[in-house]
Amino acid sequence: MSIQKDILLKDLTTFRIGGPAKHFCVVRNEDELIEAVNFSKKYRVPFFVLGGGSNILVADEGFEGIVIKMEMKGVTYKEEGTDVFVTASAGENWDSFVSQIVEKGLYGLENLSYIPGTVGAAPVQNIGAYGSELKDTVISVHVLDVVKDEYKDLSNTECKFSYRDSIFKEDPKKYIVLSVTFRLSNRGTLNIGYKDVQEYFDFKKIKEPTLKQVRNAVIEIRQRKLPDVKEYGTAGSFFKNVIVPNAQAQALLKKYPEMILHKVNDKKVKIPIAWILDHVCGFRGVKKGNVGTFRNQALVLINHGGATAAEIIALAQKMVDEVYDKTGIEIEPEVEYVL
Ligand code: EPU
Repeated sequence: MSIQKDILLKDLTTFRIGGPAKHFCVVRNEDELIEAVNFSKKYRVPFFVLGGGSNILVADEGFEGIVIKMEMKGVTYKEEGTDVFVTASAGENWDSFVSQIVEKGLYGLENLSYIPGTVGAAPVQNIGAYGSELKDTVISVHVLDVVKDEYKDLSNTECKFSYRDSIFKEDPKKYIVLSVTFRLSNRGTLNIGYKDVQEYFDFKKIKEPTLKQVRNAVIEIRQRKLPDVKEYGTAGSFFKNVIVPNAQAQALLKKYPEMILHKVNDKKVKIPIAWILDHVCGFRGVKKGNVGTFRNQALVLINHGGATAAEIIALAQKMVDEVYDKTGIEIEPEVEYVL
């Protein structure tokens, strides 16, 4: 395996922003991964594991360490009755994997269709969409514990999954994800209760959609609402939604009765920050210099071409301040900063 120098990260992220990685390598198997990690230890430089580059904002100055581009491939299946245990390697493209699963008639990941990125990145932020989250089907995550120099299987509970969060975010330098094992089913039930999905099938007058129809619906909805990464530099939702106690949500609802809340449990609800950014702060479809927000989704920041990380951060900060001033809510980036 060769370790390259000064590779421009802009070309490896969907935001199309970011300076060079001082050191860079592509890893396709465990030996190469160990070699890369040893390089980081030997020369005392930090490492950053790169998947599809679809949820990161890289500094204009670049990264002063080694970027490890994860390209381990492979998917295996083990059938047990109606359950199928599927293990996918970290470097697999997420949506190609989901497409393959749906083709085989396996239920459980269809609502997570068309999310950019790789399998290895999926557990890090517990990807979620249309009422499903990765944690609903994960059995275990196979990792390299970089600190202890050993391989481990972390159970679903050990991964500490919650909304856009996991143990992998707690300490990003401890584990590197090698593969993820899911329990999927030959005879699952479909989750079509989320508003956008329900409206789609109501409109099409389809009462009992098939697995494939649900995947296609999610793809269509996403294509309509979210920018195409081939057309725009973007990392999808830039901020997380905010989970607050019922009382705080009720107070907001009094002020803004049209806002739709999502119940998390009996005590908490999720506030749709996109709605607040749009209807309270007027941030949908704004453009300033090379940056802006998407015309159909105020939560999505866009590089209109030639934007710098500094410009994105300045716009994001303006959005954070405005939401706080108008609602008292503190919003946090969902996109990971590589600074
Ligand atoms: N809305 C507006 N204005 C906008 C956008 C949305 O009023 O500009 C309203 C919508 O009508 C809806 C609410 O705000 O009532 C929430 O919007 P939506 O349901 O589209 O989803 P979201 O909360 O913006 C989340 C995820 C997405 C995921 C969708 C669908 C986060 C941070 N984002 O977005 O994930 O695809 O739900 O389930 O949780 C991502 O993580 O990159 C991502 C795209």
